[in-house]
Amino acid sequence: MQAEVNQNVVVYFDNQYVPLGEARVSILTHALHYGTGVFDGIRGYWDDKQQDLFLVRPQDHYQRWKTNCGILRVDVPLTTEELTEITVELVRRNRFQSNLYVRPLAYKSAERIGVIPDDRNAFAVMVVPFGDYLDSRKGLHAGVVSWRRIEDTAIPARAKICGAYVNSALASDEARRNGFDEAIFRNESGHVAEGATCNLFIVRNGKLITPPGTENILEGLTRDCVMELAHRELNLEVVERPIDRSELYTCDEVFLTGTAVEIAPVVEVDHRLVKTGAIGPVARQLRRLYFEATHGYLSHYNKWLLRVYHPAIVGKAA
Ligand SMILES: Cc1ncc(COP(=O)(O)O)c(C=O)c1O
Repeated sequence: MQAEVNQNVVVYFDNQYVPLGEARVSILTHALHYGTGVFDGIRGYWDDKQQDLFLVRPQDHYQRWKTNCGILRVDVPLTTEELTEITVELVRRNRFQSNLYVRPLAYKSAERIGVIPDDRNAFAVMVVPFGDYLDSRKGLHAGVVSWRRIEDTAIPARAKICGAYVNSALASDEARRNGFDEAIFRNESGHVAEGATCNLFIVRNGKLITPPGTENILEGLTRDCVMELAHRELNLEVVERPIDRSELYTCDEVFLTGTAVEIAPVVEVDHRLVKTGAIGPVARQLRRLYFEATHGYLSHYNKWLLRVYHPAIVGKAA
C-alpha cells in the first residue's frame, strides 16, 4: 500500500508547474465519466552511491503514450523531448532523492454530459515518491481470475486507456479477496495474457516464453528490457507464443514484469507450487541484472537511463 501523496508536491498541470493541491478538474470532466484518458508510468531510481536519480526509458514511455493517445484521438501537443524535460524539471523542483514514479495522463477534458468525444484535450505529468509496489522478495502466490482480459475489438489492451483499467481493478480485487498476491488474466481464447498491471513470462524446456502483443497484452517496456537482458546476458532463447493455463502448472518458472512491479517471481499459481516453490535461477538473475541496469551499473544499458542530477555523465535516454 502506498502512502498518500503530499499536496505540496509540484506537478505539471494546465501548462504550468503547480502544487498538487491546486491541480483540480471539474466534476463534469468527460474522462471522469467515460474513462477517456490514456496514462503511462515511468520509474525513477535514486542511487545513494552515485548521488543521482535515473529515469528509466523516459522517451520510450512518452513515445508509447503519445502513440496510444492517438487511439483515443487525444492530442498531446509536446514532443517526447519536451515531455522528458518537464519530467526532469519536476524531479529537480521537488528535490526528490528517492525512488519515484512518473504518471503522465492525457484526457478528454470537455465539461458536459454526453459520451461523444470532441477535440478538447488536456494533459498532466505527476511525479511522486514510490517504493515497492508488490513485496515479491519471497515470491508471489498468483491466481488465475475469472475475469477475461479485454479484447482489442472492445478496448485495446495495448494502450493504457483509463476506462480499460476497470478490467484490471476487477481482477486485482478478485485475486486479493481470494487470498492471492496478484491476478493472472486469460484472454477470450483461453490463453494466459498477463497480470492485472504487468506482463508474464514462463521458463519451460530452457526457453523464456511470453505471450505476443496480439494476445491482448500491454506491450510493456520492462518486458522489452527483460527480453534483451535474457538474450544478451543469459544467452536464453526468447519465444513469443500463446501460453496455456496448464503450462503455468508444469513449467520451471513464472515471473511478472512491469514498471511498478519490476521483476516479481511467482512461486505458486492457483495453490500449485511452481516447480519446487522456490524462486528460480532465471528470475533471480534477471532481477539482479535489471536492478544493475536501471541504476547505472551496466554500461551497455545506460542507453535506457537519463541521469537527472548529472546529465552530462550519461546523456539523453531513449
Ligand atoms: C496491464 C499492464 N500490463 C503490463 C504492464 C507493464 O508495462 P511496463 O513494463 O511498460 O510498465 C503494465 C504497466 O503498468 C500494465 O498496466
